[in-house]
Amino acid sequence: MLVVDFGAQYAQLIARRVRELDVFSEIVGHRLSAAEIAAKEPAAIILSGGPKSVHVDGAPSLDPAIYDLGVPILGICYGAQLIAQQLGGTVGRGMSGEYGRTRITRSGDSLIFPDDAPDEHECWMSHFDGITDAPAGFNVTASSPGAPVAVLENDKRKIYGVQFHPEVKHSPFGMAAMARFLHERAGIPNDWKMASVIDEQVELIRERVGDARVICGLSGGVDSSVAAALVHKAVGNQLTCIYVDTGLMRKNESEQVVETFRRNLGIELIHADEGDSFFEALSGLTEPESKRKAIGERFIRVFEKHTGGITEAEFLVQGTLYPDLIESGGADGTAAVIKSHHNVGGLPDDMELELIEPLRDLFKDEVRALGTELGLPDEMVWRQPFPGPGLGVRIIGEVTPERVALLQEADAIVREELSNAGLEREIWQSYAALLADVRSVGVMGDERTYGNPIIIRAVTSDDAMTADWARIPYETLEVMSQRIINEVPGVNRVAYDITSKPPGTIEWE
Ligand code: XMP
Repeated sequence: MLVVDFGAQYAQLIARRVRELDVFSEIVGHRLSAAEIAAKEPAAIILSGGPKSVHVDGAPSLDPAIYDLGVPILGICYGAQLIAQQLGGTVGRGMSGEYGRTRITRSGDSLIFPDDAPDEHECWMSHFDGITDAPAGFNVTASSPGAPVAVLENDKRKIYGVQFHPEVKHSPFGMAAMARFLHERAGIPNDWKMASVIDEQVELIRERVGDARVICGLSGGVDSSVAAALVHKAVGNQLTCIYVDTGLMRKNESEQVVETFRRNLGIELIHADEGDSFFEALSGLTEPESKRKAIGERFIRVFEKHTGGITEAEFLVQGTLYPDLIESGGADGTAAVIKSHHNVGGLPDDMELELIEPLRDLFKDEVRALGTELGLPDEMVWRQPFPGPGLGVRIIGEVTPERVALLQEADAIVREELSNAGLEREIWQSYAALLADVRSVGVMGDERTYGNPIIIRAVTSDDAMTADWARIPYETLEVMSQRIINEVPGVNRVAYDITSKPPGTIEWE
C-alpha cells in the first residue's frame, strides 16, 4: 500500500496507522508518474494531507492517470481536495476553514464510515479551503459547517476522499474508516506483522554493508539497543558497539547499561569513558543549540577515535526515530528546527562514517514492539526515553561535573519516588532539571539560604510528538520536594513543571 506524500508531517503518521492495521505501507513522493506507481503494484493508495491550498502556485499535484490505474485510492484532507479538483469537482477558495474538533453530519450510506458511527460525530479537521462540489459519479456522505463535502465516495472507481484527518486520535471513527477502506474496499488482508520489518531491514543492511565493518553508538536506551540488535542480526560480528560514557548519564546508569548489554546481547562492546572530554567541550557553553552541537560533535569524534582500532569501519548505526527527524527539521528539511537532536542536526559536516538508521520511519512504540520481536528483555525495551545529550540538556546553564553530580542525586530521588508510588509505566518520561543560573532565597533552620531550584518534569505521551504533564499525586510531589531539599546540598526550592507539549517540549533545552 502506498502513501503519497504531499509534505508536512502527515504521511508518516498515516503510514504508521496503516502498519497498525497490519498492512505494509511505503511512502512515495507525489511526483511519481502513473507508470512508476503502477510498477510498484500497490494494492491501494492513500493521498496524504499537505500544508498548502490546491489553488496556490506550485501546489503539489498528482499525475491524473493514476486515477485510471484501477487501484483503490483514499484522499485525506489535501488529498481529498486534489481528487475533487482533478476529477471535475470544485474546491472553494478562501472559505472560513476549520481547525481542531469539528462536528460532521452523515448524509447517506457510506462505504467508508463504520456502520456504528453516529449520524453526527466529532472528528479532527485542519483545512482552509473546502470542497464545494463533488465530481460527477461521487456520493457525498458527510458534511460539516465549513466543509459541504466532508466525505466523497465513488465505489465504482474505488476512489474516496475524507476532508477530516482519520489518522489522528481525535477522530474517533478515523481508524475504523481507514480499516474499512483498506480491508473492505481495497480487499487487503491484515496479515503483515512487525516481524516483516526485521526481515526487510536485515536484507537492506546486508546489501549495503557487504563485508565492511560497522559500529554502533549505544546509549543504553531502547532506540540504540534495538538498532544494534537489528544490525547484529544482519551482519553478526561485523558489528562492534561503542557505549559512549559522556559523564552526563543518570546516577549509576553507565554500569547498568554495560552490564545489561554484555549479558543480554552478547555483542562486542567497547566502554568509552569520555566524561572529561565532554565536560571540556561543554566548558563555557550556555546556549542550548551550542551545547547540543558540541555534544553531537564529541560523539562522532569518539566514534572515529575508536574506529581507529576497528579496521575498515565504514558505517555508523544510529537509532534515529521519525520524531527525532521531524524535530530536527524533517527528513527533507521542510519542517522547522525545534531542536537539533544530537544524532541528527548535531552531526559534524566532515564526518567520515556513513550512517545506517534502520528505525528512521518508526515511532517509539513501534520500536518497542520491534525490540520485543527481536527478543530483547523488558528491562531494555521499557526503559524511559533518555536524550543522547543526557543531563547536558537538563542543566540550564553551563554544564560542570559538580552540577551533574548534584542533578544526578535529585533525579534519582524523582525516579525512586515515582517507582514507590507505582507510577512508572504510565509515565513516559520523568526527570529532574537544574536551573543552574537561577538562585532564590530560602530559610533552613535559622539560616538564610541562597540556592538553586530543581524542576521536576513528568509527562505522559504516546510518541513524544505531543505530551501532557503527568497528574502526579500531591503526596508524591511533596515527598520528592522534601527529600530533594533535605538530601541535595545547594538546592533550596523545587517546582513542578505543568507545561504540555506543545507549547513546551519534553526536555528543557
Ligand atoms: P523534546 O524535548 O523535543 O523531546 O520534546 C522529544 C523526545 O526526544 C528526546 N530527545 C532526544 N533524544 N537525542 C535523543 O536521542 C537528542 O538530542 C534528544 N533531544 C530530545 C526527549 O527526551 C523526548 O523523549
